[in-house]
Amino acid sequence: MRAEVVIITGASSGFGRLAALEAARRGYRVVALARRAERLAALARAIEATGGTVLTVAGDVTRAEDQERLIAAALERFGRIDALVNNAGVPLAGGFAQVSVADLRRQWETNVLAVIELTRRALPALMRTRGVVVNVGSLAGHFSFPGWGLYYPSKVAVRSISDALRRELAAYGVRVALLEPGPYRTEFAQQAGLPDPGSFGLDPTPVGRAIVDLIEHPRRLRMMPGWMWLPTTIGAALVAAAPVVVDWLMVQWTRRQQRLRTTAAADAPQQDAP
Ligand SMILES: NC(=O)c1ccc[n+]([C@@H]2O[C@H](COP(=O)([O-])OP(=O)(O)OC[C@H]3O[C@@H](n4cnc5c(N)ncnc54)[C@H](OP(=O)(O)O)[C@@H]3O)[C@@H](O)[C@H]2O)c1
Repeated sequence: MRAEVVIITGASSGFGRLAALEAARRGYRVVALARRAERLAALARAIEATGGTVLTVAGDVTRAEDQERLIAAALERFGRIDALVNNAGVPLAGGFAQVSVADLRRQWETNVLAVIELTRRALPALMRTRGVVVNVGSLAGHFSFPGWGLYYPSKVAVRSISDALRRELAAYGVRVALLEPGPYRTEFAQQAGLPDPGSFGLDPTPVGRAIVDLIEHPRRLRMMPGWMWLPTTIGAALVAAAPVVVDWLMVQWTRRQQRLRTTAAADAPQQDAP
C-alpha cells in the first residue's frame, strides 16, 4: 500500500525541509519536527499554499517527552504512521583534544540515541501499516579523517543501527533504508563553524527527492551523489587491504594541515598592545 503519513525530523532546514516539501508535493501528509518553531511555521505556510497537508511539532528530538508528543500528535491527527525519516543531525568539527564533552554528548544524543529511541516509539504504529524507516547517515561513515574524527563514529553507528533494524524488522513487514549523502550545501557547514560555509558542497535539492524515493521504494543503501559510490568503495577497500598506507597518508595530511595553520597564524597581522 502507498505510504500516507510521513514523519520527518529536522524539517526546519536542509534535507529535512526539502524532503517535507517534496513529500507534500507528492500527496503525503507530513508531520514535521524541529526545534525552531518559526522555521516550521514558514514550512507549513509553503506546504499549505500549494494545497498540501502538514502538522508541525516544535520539539527536540533528544527529549523523550517531545518524541512521545510527536508520535501522539501524528496518531491523533492522522490515525496512522507510514514512514519515519530520522534526518535530524548535528555536525561536530574539531580534533579529539578540542571537542567539548558537552558537544560530544549532544551529538550522540541527536545523531544516534534519538534515532533508536524515536524508531522504538514509532514501531507499534509502523508495524500496523507495514511502514518504512529512512535513516540519514553519511558517506563520512566510511572514513575517519583527522579533524572530524568525532563526527564520523556517530554516522558509522547509524549505518550499523540501520543494518540491525533492517534485518530485525523485516519479519514484521517494516522496511529500513539508509541514505548516505556526501557534502551538500545546507546549514550543516555553518553549524560546524566552517570558515566559508556558503562555498561548501553541492545543491541539496536532489537529496530531498531521494528521501521520498526511499519511502516509496526502500532499499538497503543509497549513496549520494551516486558517483561517490566508486571512490567510497575503493577507499573502503584500501582501508581494509592496506591500512598502514592509509594511516601514513592521513598522518602526512594532518601534519600539512598543522603546518598551514602555523604559517597562517605567524602571517596574521599582530595587534599592538594597548
Ligand atoms: N549537509 C551535508 O553535507 C550532510 C552530509 C552527510 C550527512 N548529513 C546529515 O544530514 C542530516 C540533515 O542535515 P542537513 O545537512 O540538512 O543540515 P541542517 O540544514 O543543519 O539541518 C539539520 C536539521 O536537524 C535539526 N535538528 C538538529 N538538532 C535537533 C534536535 N535536537 N531536535 C530536533 N531537530 C534537530 C535542525 O533543526 P532545528 O535546529 O530547528 O532543531 C535542522 O532542521 C543530518 O543527519 C546530517 O548529519 C549532512
